[in-house]
Amino acid sequence: MQSSAPRTLLVRGGDPRWNALFAAALPGLRVVAAPDDAESIDLFAGWNPEPGLFARLPRLQAVFALGAGVDAFLRRPDLPGSLPLVRLLDAGMAEQMIEYALLGVLAWQRHLLRYEALQQQHAWQPQAPRTRAGTRVAVLGLGEIGAQVARALSGLGYPVAGWSRTLRDVPGVRCSAGLPALGPLLEATDVLVNLLPSTADTRGLLDHARLAQLPSGALVVNAARGDQLDAEALLSLLDDGRLGGALLDVFASEPLPPEHPLWRHPQVRITPHVAAVTLPERAVEQIAANILRLQRGEAMHGIVDRARGY
Ligand SMILES: NC(=O)c1ccc[n+]([C@@H]2O[C@H](COP(=O)([O-])OP(=O)(O)OC[C@H]3O[C@@H](n4cnc5c(N)ncnc54)[C@H](OP(=O)(O)O)[C@@H]3O)[C@@H](O)[C@H]2O)c1
Repeated sequence: MQSSAPRTLLVRGGDPRWNALFAAALPGLRVVAAPDDAESIDLFAGWNPEPGLFARLPRLQAVFALGAGVDAFLRRPDLPGSLPLVRLLDAGMAEQMIEYALLGVLAWQRHLLRYEALQQQHAWQPQAPRTRAGTRVAVLGLGEIGAQVARALSGLGYPVAGWSRTLRDVPGVRCSAGLPALGPLLEATDVLVNLLPSTADTRGLLDHARLAQLPSGALVVNAARGDQLDAEALLSLLDDGRLGGALLDVFASEPLPPEHPLWRHPQVRITPHVAAVTLPERAVEQIAANILRLQRGEAMHGIVDRARGY
């Protein structure tokens, strides 16, 4: 059955500003904040809407996620597998992620965690200098965000290795793909930056055995999803002195529970899932362009491949 051109967009961005931005970008569309007339709604844009919502919208033609990672959408039983799920492609997040990764790289290279500990003791103890060329970075995930992070760090003079599912070509980055390549990569990494999507293949990927493959003193940056990193394994490797530190933005349970030992660990730095936030203007611009494509019967950009899980 041929669907008619979409006319009504339900927006659940958690802030009324989203609705105003969508209305301004798509003057031909009705933009609503509540599914009062469920039969009329044919488009959805939002993040973590209430359970069961999609089952109540029988005329949906597309769902637009206000983020890059769609694992939470794919776990929903109410989202029909046949419905196009569209995610954000960069939309200003890569630039922020470059900064976040650099924060971790510089923390390792310039011994920041060590100097913070020494400051507590009022101890003046210069550490041996580390060069950029001697700071080996690995970026897991060379997608819309990871490839730009890897390229930017390489451009600053860091030796960067990149890892993905299929072999990618990123200028200045030593690329490899597939699980057999992961062990040798980890063994030669001082700063590990995880930018993989959360899928059946990547959940639990950074377990004790894999983290233990990192050289002594390495630093782990996790800015992807918390379920990919075994937090207990990380803590035990930090306590053993095998790993040097961790910069963590994402957690298996968010907000990170107040009693969680990660909060207290002296070599762990925590940020509350802010490594790369969605920028409303950029996101609306991208989604509006896709809605216009859909109205013209053209292919949208950023449709999630359900079989791959990202
Ligand atoms: N903390 C934050 O604030 C924040 C903000 C934005 C995004 N994120 C997270 O960052 C993730 C990455 O975003 P993105 O837009 O760059 O994703 P993307 O464009 O979908 O890229 C995903 C990359 O991961 C690779 N990959 C997927 N499964 C793999 C596997 N099993 N083994 C090896 N590599 C695998 C892909 O390989 P191929 O190239 O072969 O397809 C691709 O290079 C998102 O899914 C989200 O969870 C976090």
